[in-house]
Amino acid sequence: MEVLESSHPLFEVVRTSAGAISIRNKELNETMHNPVGPWVEANTLYIDQSKLVDRLLEKTSDELVIFDVGLGAAANALAALAAANRAGHERRPLHIVSFERELELLRFALAQSAHFPHFFGYEVALETLLARGIWVDGSITWELRHGDFLDFIAHEKVRPHLVFFDPYSSKVNEEMWTTDVFRKIHALSRSPEEGGTSLFTYSQATRIRVALIAAGFYVGYGSATGLKSETTEASTDRNRLRMPLGKPWFDRWRKSHLRHPYDCRPEDEPGIDAAIEAYLLREFG
Ligand SMILES: C[S@@+](CC[C@H](N)C(=O)[O-])C[C@H]1O[C@@H](n2cnc3c(N)ncnc32)[C@H](O)[C@@H]1O
Repeated sequence: MEVLESSHPLFEVVRTSAGAISIRNKELNETMHNPVGPWVEANTLYIDQSKLVDRLLEKTSDELVIFDVGLGAAANALAALAAANRAGHERRPLHIVSFERELELLRFALAQSAHFPHFFGYEVALETLLARGIWVDGSITWELRHGDFLDFIAHEKVRPHLVFFDPYSSKVNEEMWTTDVFRKIHALSRSPEEGGTSLFTYSQATRIRVALIAAGFYVGYGSATGLKSETTEASTDRNRLRMPLGKPWFDRWRKSHLRHPYDCRPEDEPGIDAAIEAYLLREFG
């Protein structure tokens, strides 16, 4: 990995092994969106999988709401704005709610925007969001919830159609990948009759998929991206899943030593096992 800019104490701009420009958190030793880079990952994982352009062209005047969990350097949110641009003037209103506790990464990325073509044209939007916590442009509203997602999600009033779930990995950000967090997201989610809520994330970890099922979501395989041969899609509407988890996944889950969510206490393990077995029975009879 080649370092292109390293003067900031916490972040540096790097060129990944695949030749993409990305940002590395020096403290956590995590390179974001490695190795494909932020723009490819944002579009493959979040924009294409959620069929965002089609969703924006649905014949309704109700706003489509996206939760952008972990705004970070804003690639996912900017990819959503670019999709809105592609959808043209006939689209429904778009409302993005970005959650972030540490805005220094975005400030750093903005200062380094020459490395990131997807920032071009959105500098004022980003500066406004940072300064005022909201940017509005016609039928687009972009809000920032600055602080801990774990606090916000307990009191949030806005209900998402799509959740782009992009915290750091569970190795360093375990508290974000729990049943408790997914239950709180599920509590705000929409029923299939209300258009459903779908969550996309880069993880394919068994413990995270189990947490999503225990929280009440239907869970499926998501597209490959970067070094990951698969990712995860979850939804309140089973019909929206492109590839529901297959029986072999549950066979592997039964044998796995790490088959319970991060926040599962030993006394809760039988309850989680029962919830997954019940899901399996509903899915496969
Ligand atoms: C992988 S980065 C996100 C990358 C970003 N989505 C992008 O497109 O550039 C993870 C982000 O999640 C944020 N984060 C992690 N835990 C959080 C929490 N509890 N509340 C709010 N933000 C959190 C981190 O500060 C970090 O900026």
